Amino acid sequence: MKKLLIVYYSYTGGTAQMVEAAAQAGRGEDGTDLRTIRAEDCQPEDMLSADGYIFATPENLAAMAGVMKAFFDRCYYPLLGKIEGRPYAAMICAGSDGENAQRQLERIATGWRLKKVIDSLIICTHAQTKQEILVSKIISDTDRQQCAETGATLSAGLAMGVF
Ligand SMILES: Cc1cc2nc3c(=O)[nH]c(=O)nc-3n(C[C@H](O)[C@H](O)[C@H](O)COP(=O)(O)O)c2cc1C
Repeated sequence: MKKLLIVYYSYTGGTAQMVEAAAQAGRGEDGTDLRTIRAEDCQPEDMLSADGYIFATPENLAAMAGVMKAFFDRCYYPLLGKIEGRPYAAMICAGSDGENAQRQLERIATGWRLKKVIDSLIICTHAQTKQEILVSKIISDTDRQQCAETGATLSAGLAMGVF
């Protein structure tokens, strides 16, 4: 059975709900074993034992979240040359932008020679004031549906061997 790993970080819950939607849809596809792991817990061996990945992070201070970056910093060289060609997707939770986090993440994935098999998804929570940013997020059903499509696409593609 093919293995899909979702590596994520979330501070106020938005990205976590995006991951929940993607994971639920991905688990609905036969033939793929889907696991989620928080970025701070993810080690190179977790990555090595998976066949495909979804990376999910908030954009914080015009960058991917520091915990997510620390995961990439920790795993980049141990995995370089060992995961080439594996499929991935990226999901970003942003208050207003998200493009810098997407760019950074895709650049690292390109360095690993991973294969982007679906457009990266940016979900905007429209949190811009201090109060809005610090409050727990609620991801809308429409946005959850988009995350579900990312999870289902990766999962089904892996199971069918199309990537
Ligand atoms: C320290 C900090 C910095 C942030 N900087 C940005 C930013 O540069 N661009 C942006 O679009 N959103 C920014 N945000 C908003 C978050 O991306 C937004 O609240 C998102 O929904 C958080 O996802 P989470 O609920 O998974 O933590 C920032 C939030 C925090 C806490």
